[in-house]
Amino acid sequence: MDTTFEHKSVLLDEVISILAPHKDGVYCDGTLGGGGHAEKILEASAPSGRLIGIDQDLDAIAAAKKRLEKFGGRAQIFHGRFSQLAELLKRAGVSQLDGLLLDLGVSSHQLDEATRGFSFMNAGPIDMRMDTSDGETALELLNRLSEDELADIIFRFGEERMARQVARSIKRMETEGTLQTTQDLAVAVKRVVGHKRPGKSDPATKTFQAIRIAVNDEMKELESVLQMLPEPLAVGGAVAIITFHSLEDRMVKQRFDELVKPCKCPPGMPVCTCPKPYAEYTTRRSVRVSNQETELNRRARSARVRAIRRVR
Ligand SMILES: C[S@@+](CC[C@H](N)C(=O)[O-])C[C@H]1O[C@@H](n2cnc3c(N)ncnc32)[C@H](O)[C@@H]1O
Repeated sequence: MDTTFEHKSVLLDEVISILAPHKDGVYCDGTLGGGGHAEKILEASAPSGRLIGIDQDLDAIAAAKKRLEKFGGRAQIFHGRFSQLAELLKRAGVSQLDGLLLDLGVSSHQLDEATRGFSFMNAGPIDMRMDTSDGETALELLNRLSEDELADIIFRFGEERMARQVARSIKRMETEGTLQTTQDLAVAVKRVVGHKRPGKSDPATKTFQAIRIAVNDEMKELESVLQMLPEPLAVGGAVAIITFHSLEDRMVKQRFDELVKPCKCPPGMPVCTCPKPYAEYTTRRSVRVSNQETELNRRARSARVRAIRRVR
């Protein structure tokens, strides 16, 4: 297991201002990573605030344990998925939260560590599992899927216009026995989509994103935690979700809208019998990364945070 862990937390000040951690508060970071956000939450909720940290990546768990050990029993760390939130909170002896954070997607550590297989920049095994202790690797997934199924995934989760051609190219290399490393996978994409142009993102980005999302079942994970809301939150508690692409952001926005505006009455309905709002927005729109932060951390450029606060 690798315990050197590099990751710059995104939208740090914005998250702390939304969650407004206070002493005696109980918080959960469902995507603990290297513990950057968690550390700030624990500092801001001193001396008695608590934090439950969850991550499915064992490297992240090891790094966060080291970083947060100075907080002693105020930090409780679990290896698991945030879709298991209810069960993990029960194990931590917590019934409701004053704040919940999800910082979706991959950490820089996962991207930069070639052996994890997320990167098209360095050759590594075609793995892409956040939880290396469980589940199917990306290569196993690519072997199992038909060309049509693969094309659907690349189109839906990568929004790649040339998904059919990319899927065909990948399956061809697989049949030839030349699909061994992440660089081979990038070659399969570039044969169809072309090579990187100055100032543009790498043509393999969309396909790698799509395969990673499928391997880690990321949409299902997000949907299951969104459907739990507002239950895990105490009244007054906030949930902040940082997203990196429009698919995730759309899902978060839709669910938050349902909780803030549950009224489905047609216009002119004399009496509304719909449920009252469960939540209110902490900020009406999503908050995007500042230019200053993007200059310091290019990987943060597409990040945005949405947040609501439970009102009943
Ligand atoms: C962007 S990083 C979080 C970085 C962290 N906020 C920090 O400041 O260091 C996302 C982390 O979420 C984890 N993750 C993604 N989906 C998850 C899920 N469904 N359950 C648990 N952890 C997940 C990844 O393994 C990764 O470590």
